[in-house]
Amino acid sequence: MAQLETTSSQIAQWVARDEAVLSPSYTRSYPFVMDQGKGSEVWDVEGRRYIDLNAGIAVCSTGHSHPDVVRAIQQQAERFLHMSGTDFYYPLEIQVAERLCSLVPGNEPHQAFLCNSGAEAIEAAFKLARYTTGRPRMVAFIGAFHGRTMGALSLTASKAVQREGFAPLVPGVSHVPYAYCYRCAHHLEYPACDLACVSYIEQTLFKNYCPPREVAAIFVEPIQGEGGYVVPPAGFHQRLKELADRYGILYVDDEIQTGIGRTGKMFAIEHWGVVPDIVTVAKGIASGLPLGAAVARKSLMTWKPGAHGNTFGGNPLACAAAVETLRLVEDEYMAHAAAMGEVFMERLRGMQRRYEQIGDVRGLGLMVGIEMVRDAAGRQPAPELRDAVVQAAFERGLLLLGCGASTIRLCPALNIPRALVDESLKILEESLAAVLKA
Ligand SMILES: Cc1ncc(COP(=O)(O)O)c(C=O)c1O
Repeated sequence: MAQLETTSSQIAQWVARDEAVLSPSYTRSYPFVMDQGKGSEVWDVEGRRYIDLNAGIAVCSTGHSHPDVVRAIQQQAERFLHMSGTDFYYPLEIQVAERLCSLVPGNEPHQAFLCNSGAEAIEAAFKLARYTTGRPRMVAFIGAFHGRTMGALSLTASKAVQREGFAPLVPGVSHVPYAYCYRCAHHLEYPACDLACVSYIEQTLFKNYCPPREVAAIFVEPIQGEGGYVVPPAGFHQRLKELADRYGILYVDDEIQTGIGRTGKMFAIEHWGVVPDIVTVAKGIASGLPLGAAVARKSLMTWKPGAHGNTFGGNPLACAAAVETLRLVEDEYMAHAAAMGEVFMERLRGMQRRYEQIGDVRGLGLMVGIEMVRDAAGRQPAPELRDAVVQAAFERGLLLLGCGASTIRLCPALNIPRALVDESLKILEESLAAVLKA
């Protein structure tokens, strides 16, 4: 990402103080120092206003400080802040689990394990998959991001820097190419490829070095997030699920970024009609409060009391926020996300026709990726161009972030108003035009 360029003294001071005491492993793209936010607009400590197309990386699903969510948190804060859901009972934790269990695809009874983050939800799914199948191995995808704790990191294969220096990771994880059709690892074209990325797992991975009867689970993002907002084609998830079922392998659907209405359905996997065995959620479920979950069929939740737990999971404030978030998303915002996603896609495809440096525009609902390339024919990734556009947009009052090698990701709040969609697209195009002109 572009160098931080600080111009104003207050901002520069905060950035300097941050650099003195916060871990240098964070990946800040530009010096936005937040003061407050409302919906899809945010203001920095010097009062400058920005449109936020990032929503805390797909977290603030109902926008910043939605009044209903804030009210629910305040009301709960006056009753109690914490009680450890691992050891005691309270209605909010049960209500959130009930909602999640009824929302995940599949008709069988489900149960939920609540935690505080995406990585923790993945750890829970990883451990549960091993525990319940008695099998040691996992399959995951190149480009996948499942988090940064040791188990989750072992499944992650997005950027080498995320793994460098941390080996040995958890053994037994094999990575295979994802259905990234714009850059097919097999150099084939969809649909003539007949989903070679799925057959590769059976014909190469399972035959040559990863005995399928030792595989507990396949971890898959329905749409790759951090890896580049990569939407797989029709049939991919269905074929993958059939393969998993043939060998008694669990299908772990990582909905941490895609879930809770973001793609226009409660869970993105519903676009492919697949019923997963375990679903992981976090990010958007509580509008910004830390909450994660691994939800599985009851028949898979075979672990004994004490086998897994935590102190803070299912925190009452986070659960209060989640109940309101789920209500708002289900009633209204999920449909709005689908509609606004279409506006973004149509306008960005128009922009793609005007600028050959926009190699690919892809997405579902409000999860939209714009892959920047040097030129349309060569398709070489253009990370420096992507970073320059992100920087130029910041300077014009628009917050964007990158993902993958050279993609700009748009993941705004699900209730972003149409006027802000239009305004943000205008700034985005101006930024791209300015960078190309320079
Ligand atoms: C698909 C996916 N899984 C897991 C994670 C890890 O979540 P967390 O950062 O809350 O640990 C992320 C975070 O970006 C994600 O996008």
